[in-house]
Amino acid sequence: MPISLIVCTPEQAAVVAAELVVGTVARILPHRTPEVGAATGNTPIPTYREMIAAATRQGVDLSRVRTWNLDEYRGLSPGHPLSYRTYMATHLHDRVGTPPEFRCFPDLDDPAAYDLRIARDTTASGIDIGLLGIGRTGHIGFAEPGCDEDGGTFLSELHQTTRQDAVREFGSLDLVPTHAVSMGVGTIRKYWSRVILMAFGLGKADPVWGMLQGPIGNHCPASLLRRHRDVTVLLDPPAASKLTMKLLQATQC
Ligand code: GLP
Repeated sequence: MPISLIVCTPEQAAVVAAELVVGTVARILPHRTPEVGAATGNTPIPTYREMIAAATRQGVDLSRVRTWNLDEYRGLSPGHPLSYRTYMATHLHDRVGTPPEFRCFPDLDDPAAYDLRIARDTTASGIDIGLLGIGRTGHIGFAEPGCDEDGGTFLSELHQTTRQDAVREFGSLDLVPTHAVSMGVGTIRKYWSRVILMAFGLGKADPVWGMLQGPIGNHCPASLLRRHRDVTVLLDPPAASKLTMKLLQATQC
């Protein structure tokens, strides 16, 4: 299985993930535009902070990175405080000065156009490295259980558990969007050269088990990443707590 597993604290994971992203960006920048996949949620927030710190220390200009967001809610205006555009502006784009054309999001009216745009704009390289979280349903982006195992960017109906989890941001269930446009598992497998997936807390222990040790299939979209060529998984001990020792022996700390 081409998955490297690291168990550490969330703080250490943010530093490791940030070093991986900034290191990749630094290697590519002298030659071409680095292409970075971007996730939202609480999990990657410290990583964006550490990326900015690492880039500042190393003199790497993150404003020259083109970012490709995984997903966006449907039905929110781009400037809505809970849109993923706003999230990215707050945690990365406005802080490093990313130009508008390097803030890439799926077209809410034409999902399939996103994969074509990735293919066109990233030429042969695809997305060099990208961050992922995992939802309690085992979703990645908003590719929920039952999604097409090899599908491209699509309109996704959000799972009830996912909507319930979003109540903490939206305040009540009826304010949580019912749909989002998300990269599909096929988008990630086809266009992302390297995946960094992070999960923290006991609430992620079941989907993490499903991703790494359960059967591979679209009942747990993250499990389909076991068919990707280069995945690094960063977990804290509670998120790793349901994995068997055999798998954990591969762990570095
Ligand atoms: C949302 C996002 C996912 C993210 C997930 C988990 O569903 N679309 O990309 O991985 O939330 O969020 P959190 O990191 O807050 O647990």
